Amino acid sequence: MEITAIPGAREMFSLDPEVIQLNHGSYGAVPVEVQERQSELRAEMERAPDRFFARLPARLAVARERVAAFLNSSGNSSGAAFVANATEGVAVALESVPLAAGDEILYTDHGYAAVERALRRRAGESGARLVRVALGDDPVAAVLGGVTARTRLAVLDHVSSAGARLLPVARLAGELAARDVVSVVDGAHAPGMLPVDLDAVNADFWVGNLHKWAFAPRPAALLHVAPHWRGRVRPLVVSYGDGFPDAVEFQGTRDYTALLAAPYGLDLLERLGLDRVRAHNTALAAYGQRVVAESLHEAGLCADAPQATGHPGVPMRVVRLASGLGTTKAEADALCAEILDRLGCQIKVEPVGLLRLSAQIYNTREDYDRLAAGLPDVLRTRRALLRTI
Ligand SMILES: Cc1ncc(COP(=O)(O)O)c(C=O)c1O
Repeated sequence: MEITAIPGAREMFSLDPEVIQLNHGSYGAVPVEVQERQSELRAEMERAPDRFFARLPARLAVARERVAAFLNSSGNSSGAAFVANATEGVAVALESVPLAAGDEILYTDHGYAAVERALRRRAGESGARLVRVALGDDPVAAVLGGVTARTRLAVLDHVSSAGARLLPVARLAGELAARDVVSVVDGAHAPGMLPVDLDAVNADFWVGNLHKWAFAPRPAALLHVAPHWRGRVRPLVVSYGDGFPDAVEFQGTRDYTALLAAPYGLDLLERLGLDRVRAHNTALAAYGQRVVAESLHEAGLCADAPQATGHPGVPMRVVRLASGLGTTKAEADALCAEILDRLGCQIKVEPVGLLRLSAQIYNTREDYDRLAAGLPDVLRTRRALLRTI
């Protein structure tokens, strides 16, 4: 696949020139022009705090409308609320859906670890039982195979963190609704990365981060709620806001400038050309996966054959490390730190033995070539060290 660079992309960001950032997927990166818009909003807040907060609800509604339209949520902005991040959005959904002893909550082996913790707490409090299904090769069969007469709620990733897997969430939400199961979609990675169509997904709850692939400042996310749930949404913090979305969105005095600046990230993406950005990023991620997997395979440090595996439109790819490497959180963190220290590359190691690479417009082929060239040596050292422990 051809990789067509976007001229001047690197200069649009304020990333440390000493570090090759190959982990856009974790925290995103905010383009300088969006940082500037947020600084202006903060300056405005400091010039006249009362005026700023008096105007805030109306301005949030305008920003929300723009983001909701970008994600194709039809009609108006009242079906969605800004939240800080995906973790918070999932927590609001879990708080809102009544659960009782004996109910089942379904989730998958690809779910995000922090979300799994939230599920554990909710299950513990309500007496509901957690049912974890392995996605395997057929996610629809796996999820629907885990549904029983007691399943009340299912939490699914739109794009998973560890495996960078794209799930057919529209199909699954429809099938779950037909079985009377409430769907909660963790779309942390989806905005900006994929052409999201919330009307088509039609989940009960869907939340997506804007600060990962949509170039928004942190923290910024949108929680979309189906009409029949809007009257029953329970905000995590009770403040002045009444009803949905205000009660969820207004959580007292805090910094709302990331949310107000989120539309500028979308403006930039659209100016650059969404198709162009997406084509660049997915092709580059595939390139990165190939060169890294080939290099590790040659060195006997890769668990898979070096063929390309990945999901259409997802600019994150994984390489499975040889057995024993990166399989605990401590080891994964130590490996990341060593790769950063020795190669100057910031990558993500998911503590299931997966090295995850992201691609964004500021990346080039050379970034992945550098990682591919130096990685075998780092992994050999790490493996030798593990054997002596
Ligand atoms: C699938 C998934 N869900 C949730 C999150 C959490 O995002 P946040 O920390 O912004 O809430 C992430 C972050 O990487 C993620 O990948």
